[in-house]
Amino acid sequence: MSYWFTNPMLKILLPMGNSTSIKGLTTIFSMPRLIMGANAFPEGKVLGMTAVDYFAARCDRKQAFVVTDEFGERFASRVVRAVEAAGFSTQTWAKAAPEAPMDNVKECADAMSQFSPDLIVAVGGGSVIDGAKAAWIHYERPDIIDIGMITPAQPLGLRKKAVFAAVPTTSGTGSECTSVTVVHDTAAHRKIPVANPELMPDFAVLCPEFTMTMPPKLTAGTGLDALSHAMDAVATPAANELTDALALQAIKMVFKYLPRAYRNGKDREARHRMLLASSLAGIAFGQSGAALTHSFGHSLGSLFDIHHGLAVGIFIPYVFQFYQAVSDKYVAICQVLGVAGESREESMAGLVEKVRDLFRELDVPLNLADMGIPADQLEEKMEKLVLYAYEDIDTLFSPRPITPDQCEYIFRYAYEGKDVDF
Ligand SMILES: [Fe+2]
Repeated sequence: MSYWFTNPMLKILLPMGNSTSIKGLTTIFSMPRLIMGANAFPEGKVLGMTAVDYFAARCDRKQAFVVTDEFGERFASRVVRAVEAAGFSTQTWAKAAPEAPMDNVKECADAMSQFSPDLIVAVGGGSVIDGAKAAWIHYERPDIIDIGMITPAQPLGLRKKAVFAAVPTTSGTGSECTSVTVVHDTAAHRKIPVANPELMPDFAVLCPEFTMTMPPKLTAGTGLDALSHAMDAVATPAANELTDALALQAIKMVFKYLPRAYRNGKDREARHRMLLASSLAGIAFGQSGAALTHSFGHSLGSLFDIHHGLAVGIFIPYVFQFYQAVSDKYVAICQVLGVAGESREESMAGLVEKVRDLFRELDVPLNLADMGIPADQLEEKMEKLVLYAYEDIDTLFSPRPITPDQCEYIFRYAYEGKDVDF
């Protein structure tokens, strides 16, 4: 079985299609209706529109199916109270599993089909939102047996039955603002990205209080995921002025507010700004693609038990040093972060140090050895690490084409914390 993103012709055509010289022929910039503020899911009387008013305007039958997990249940119940107060009948499915395994997604879709909602609300982290998006496809299109085979160009005809709202309880994945879902094919031991413009949620509702109970480690990990999205979104050849504006602003905000949210989870302003930064980065990378931070992070995360955000974040300095040979987009990042340098080399060194300072503030390791990966295990898994990174969908979006040998060098350099010099 081969997926659309493993097509050899695509590997040649996509980077060309994304190249700055010919892109823009069919660029569509899409994002959900973003709803923020304390009134989003009101308790009691409030002035003005709420998120639920927007939902109600789109749903005649007023049947809401809420997808969540054990952790998100307490926030989902607030969403349920608010939509029920607006006349919706609801059903909550709180069995979403980490990493959105396909069998779990099917189970969710079956419950969804029985309830027959015209509104689906996902309340949770990236796995919950991704799983709910995938279940939504099954619900709308029960004729599609293997959603892993869906291509970005395929018309799906979603929204004939329901509209989709995402309510994140973490600040990092950006899934509330992308037209992608990543599901886990447990039989094939593979993460399957399903990308299709119709998967963009109709609504993304940002409630900072839903993220305040995230423990510091998860705050740091998810925040670094947002930073990776934003930095790669600037570097990819598919970036444009719109994505740059959002991604650069997101980078600035992560550096300012992530340490605050990490130190004090109850810092409402920092939580709010991080949610917004994560969504800005999500809109940006949803359009321009993430690149090698995610190729290497996906590979590392699939072979070692490491949180996605930490796994992708740790590669930021190494892949930006690798990009430097062909791209000076990092200069724009230096500018928003106030990093000055007399030469390209000095600017890059300053940027890398700035990223490492952030890692230190978040108590995040700077290299793979400090992450606790034993050297013999790295050697044992090197072949797979290289293969998975090289074949990852995000490798298509790298500003600099990479060879398997270079993938191996980057793993080795990142293990020792060595500056990439090739
Ligand atoms: Fe990510």
